[in-house]
Amino acid sequence: MMVRLSALMLVMLAFGNGAIAEEETGLNEQQIAAAAANYEQYCALCHGSERQGHVNDHAPSLRSHSLLGAGLQEISLAIGYGRAGTPMAGFFEEVGGPMSRREIYEMIGWLRQEAGVEENIELGLEMISGNIERGKKLYAETCAECHGASGAGITGTALGNPAMLSLTTDAFLKHAIVNGRDGTEMKAFAEELPEDDINSLVAFIRSRATGWEIQKPVFRAPPPADAYVLNPDAQAPEWELKDELYVTSAQLDIALNDKRRLVLLDTRNLSLWQMANIEGSVPLPYYYDNPQDIFNDLPDDGTWIVTYCECPRAAAEYVNKKLKAGGFKNTAVLWEGIQGWVSLGYPVSRGETVAADTDNLRK
Ligand code: HEC
Ligand code: HEC
Repeated sequence: MMVRLSALMLVMLAFGNGAIAEEETGLNEQQIAAAAANYEQYCALCHGSERQGHVNDHAPSLRSHSLLGAGLQEISLAIGYGRAGTPMAGFFEEVGGPMSRREIYEMIGWLRQEAGVEENIELGLEMISGNIERGKKLYAETCAECHGASGAGITGTALGNPAMLSLTTDAFLKHAIVNGRDGTEMKAFAEELPEDDINSLVAFIRSRATGWEIQKPVFRAPPPADAYVLNPDAQAPEWELKDELYVTSAQLDIALNDKRRLVLLDTRNLSLWQMANIEGSVPLPYYYDNPQDIFNDLPDDGTWIVTYCECPRAAAEYVNKKLKAGGFKNTAVLWEGIQGWVSLGYPVSRGETVAADTDNLRK
């Protein structure tokens, strides 16, 4: 979709900042002079006096139409917040930089004007899906020589940069790959690669947003049903519950150390249980749609059943209600949640190195 608006208006829309969205129709002479001076003072060092790019640190071209004509939001955010981990620092006052928002809006307006860009292509927000494995292979073959084998950037920008990935849309990445960046080494890959491959590249790059090296999680299996009750032959703890519902971390710690009989249910997302949990806990995620399966294997002889979660109590209380509705008598919720438990210095067991049969994992 092509829209024709004045450069300055567009920039302000990109920020959605009502406060200054007045009826301005372009940059006046003073604003132009100020933007040019700011550019020379703050940006020319790396991006070049002619905005040509690659003067220092392989800073990209700020003349390229494919950048300036389509990535208003991305450009504003790159200038405002920078790309931590690269030489591109944040220029907003609010992050300690030398420029006000207005100065940045005006500079973008000026950059667009200098480059002769009048249109703006709305790129949209939708996710682009593709074959990540295919994208990974293509990346190594076609892109790594300039962008770096691990996305750290060489002559091309750092495509594995978490700041860049968090502040750009899939469509922005795709637009750059399809159209290249005119006047730079980044060529238009639409001429070389089918759309499927380009989508796969975008999907691969996006998949690196939480780190270039993806660690395969090592799963551990939940305890078997006959291990749900901790210390089955021991005495039950004698607890006075706060508000008749809550057991404190201190009380639970004593009971665990004294090897008392009880059941501990971890009601968090299973991925959190996989990372770390209170030793001996049985995962029963709040969203598990067949809690009855687990309930059937829980003792109904008055053994204490303690639920805990992260939040500190929402999921644990939710499952506790279901337990009560299921007729279980002695139920309690860990007051501080596991985060409180940890911050009070009580131990958790971390992910094991023994891989579990993934078929046995609860979904
Ligand atoms: C110290 C060098 C340096 C200075 C000074 C600098 N930049 Fe950058 N800039 C870079 C580098 C390097 C990158 C690419 C970072 C990366 O790998 O993603 C970049 C990226 C950018 C991008 C993102 C472009 C894209 O292709 O996505 C924009 C926009 C930008 N700079 C604008 C500016 C503006 C405007 C200024 C002045 C206010 C400025 N920069 C100052 C080095 C610099
Ligand atoms: C010959 C070097 C080279 C190759 C090969 C190359 N690029 Fe680039 N790419 C660049 C440069 C340089 C830029 C920054 C444009 C500029 O200099 O102004 C860039 C920019 C980009 C951007 C915009 C990133 C941003 O920070 O805004 C994306 C996305 C991108 N390239 C993806 C790819 C992909 C995917 C491939 C492989 C299919 C590829 N590039 C291959 C040099 C290259």
